[in-house]
Amino acid sequence: MKVTVVGAGAVGATCADNIARKELAQELVLLDIREGFAEGKAIDMMQTSALLGFDTKVKGVTNDYASTAGSDVVVITSGLPRKPGMTREELIGTNAGIVKSVTENILKHSPDTIIVVVSNPMDTMTYLTLKTSGLPENRIIGMGGALDSSRFKYYLSQELGCSPADLNAVVIGGHGDTTMIPLINHATWNSVPVTQFLSKEQQDKIVSDTMVGGATLTRLIGTSAWYAPGAGTAMIVESILRDEKKLVPCCVSLDGEYGQNDIAIGVPVVLGKNGWEKIVELNLSGDEKAAFAKSAEAVRSMNSVLELA
Ligand code: 2OP
Repeated sequence: MKVTVVGAGAVGATCADNIARKELAQELVLLDIREGFAEGKAIDMMQTSALLGFDTKVKGVTNDYASTAGSDVVVITSGLPRKPGMTREELIGTNAGIVKSVTENILKHSPDTIIVVVSNPMDTMTYLTLKTSGLPENRIIGMGGALDSSRFKYYLSQELGCSPADLNAVVIGGHGDTTMIPLINHATWNSVPVTQFLSKEQQDKIVSDTMVGGATLTRLIGTSAWYAPGAGTAMIVESILRDEKKLVPCCVSLDGEYGQNDIAIGVPVVLGKNGWEKIVELNLSGDEKAAFAKSAEAVRSMNSVLELA
């Protein structure tokens, strides 16, 4: 198996590091536009292989798309990250041009690949890739929900005093501070509804902390977070390459599911060797359905800024 990660910044490099440590691929190409940058990060990673005991060959390249040829999965992290106080949406103009040209270059050498989109605003960048790549829709997956659900489980586990691994909890909708929908009424602690243990105030705080999870870290660190975004992306790559059929909320194209069309937005999907293989429809309450429709409206209005000609 071969994976390419485009963008050797903090998120891309952390994703690559996770992929290498787990030996998800024999070959891993890390590509960046900055001269020598990906090469340096790849060598640093390779110098951990004797310590960590992995055999994945990590190769860094500067804008050399020929080296990415034959990739089974390509992760796109390129683009500007958020600065404190900035929304993901403010990145749209710059990042759309970058993501479009990266996709074109990738497809010249890996025409049948599966693309995992991480660049922000992630829902709109996933929609752009769907509209411009010509790939079947099941081969394009936006990463947001996997990350947001992990943040949701973190905040739940802190309040419940439990292991995050014991929790089932999903975030659907857009990957934006006001568009994501942490489904607290569907969350369970080993099949017991979490709402049984939490006051309304606690539940509201967990939901709002999850929604601004990325912004909180951007304020603290001074740029976008990378450990959880990188690990969330690697988990998606793992489920695809190992054909695990994990059920993970990801941003995918909807054709009538959840009452939506012509949009890419977060919903639970089964991830396997063909990319996303099935959309699972949750039994949403009236309020949750309304929140999803509102989130879709916000994502759609962001998409309308794209020049898709
Ligand atoms: C985040 O939420 C980078 O959008 C990503 O941290």
